[in-house]
Amino acid sequence: MERKFANFETKSIHTADPRTEAFGSLTVPLYMTSTYVFPSAEVGGARFAGEAEGMIYSRIANPTTDVLEKAMAELEGAEAGLAFGSGMGAISAVLIALVKSGDHILCSDGLYGCTYGLLTMLKEKFNVQFDLVDMADMERVRAAMRPETKVVYVETPINPTLKVVDLEALSEIAHAGGAQVVVDNTFMTPFLQQPLQFGADIVVHSATKYLGGHGDLIAGVAVGRKAFLDEVRFSTLKDIGSVMAPMEAWLILRGLKTLPLRMERHCENAQKVAAFLAAHPKVKQVYFPGFADHPQAEVVARQMRGSGGMIAFEVETLDGGRTLMNSVRLAQLAVSLGEATTLIQHPASMTHAVVPADVRRDEMGIADGLVRLSVGLEHPSDIIADLEQALAKIPVASEALETVHEDGPNSAA
Ligand SMILES: Cc1ncc(COP(=O)(O)O)c(C=O)c1O
Repeated sequence: MERKFANFETKSIHTADPRTEAFGSLTVPLYMTSTYVFPSAEVGGARFAGEAEGMIYSRIANPTTDVLEKAMAELEGAEAGLAFGSGMGAISAVLIALVKSGDHILCSDGLYGCTYGLLTMLKEKFNVQFDLVDMADMERVRAAMRPETKVVYVETPINPTLKVVDLEALSEIAHAGGAQVVVDNTFMTPFLQQPLQFGADIVVHSATKYLGGHGDLIAGVAVGRKAFLDEVRFSTLKDIGSVMAPMEAWLILRGLKTLPLRMERHCENAQKVAAFLAAHPKVKQVYFPGFADHPQAEVVARQMRGSGGMIAFEVETLDGGRTLMNSVRLAQLAVSLGEATTLIQHPASMTHAVVPADVRRDEMGIADGLVRLSVGLEHPSDIIADLEQALAKIPVASEALETVHEDGPNSAA
């Protein structure tokens, strides 16, 4: 009997239907196995030849991971899903499957630091070119498309500047130029934004973040057309090997059941924290898609069900930002995002340190003093009280803006 449900809140609990499993286990069984016994040499051969269904080896597929892949496809409104060992595993496998030497990737003018690192590696070693373009302006996107553009790659909202891109308009331009649209939906999750509905072709996630939701795993997911993801499964997933462990798939399936509840609370908390920061005299600028005067408020309303849990803000000086980060008590000074604990970090010296300083400042708009906050699930008054006491430690008199080191070698989540 097929069970289909109308609402996300129900799907996130019931999509991974366990009743097809032996013993009637309510939760999805965890298959901790690297390989699978073939009933006969003929069946084994047929599975390798793609002529028979069935498991072969857990670098290609695993029954627990398979349930997660189907659940993510259902939640994103996609034909199929594919699990990876990390968000970067998903992004690299998808991009390498889509491009070859001489091709061009057009990107939003803000990207997670390691995605920028991957694009730089593809350019330097394999002659795959890329450009960053301000996707708030579709005329610029149109002008930046080249005959060799095979992929338009976008984060929306952008990490960490929280600029928003109109996916419908972008997809139209990309498709007219023969390119596929890949969207990193990590900041939103399918509860808040479903890029395929707006014409995107492939969605990638760092499942490390909101999907897992508890800061206890590293994982990635891609969703899109089945034919494309089958190709990825048997090429850049299988042969490069960034495979999700079954335990991680099991934990993410557990996380998905509370995803709508958590995202609602992340959004509510972030809205309150952003309003507090915007009214604080020591805060120079707050970037948050939930403000009515956000430059792309109309796109936010059309494309996103909520504005998410991420905020970026600037205090007067870099030193002030350091004082703030060293003074928080509830918020934890750590990279990563999308979990129960509020996290604070400094993009210029941490997540985006790998991006050359001029690109970071001039093309991505990441000021040296920008601080990124992943608002957690604590009581909003406690988060605000913590930021208030930390902001109070910043000296009032402005000091000269110090700059961070020019090109940092490392960046992480
Ligand atoms: C927007 C975004 N995409 C991708 C990644 C990479 O994910 P992972 O750390 O799971 O490889 C991150 C990590 O912070 C991220 O913030």
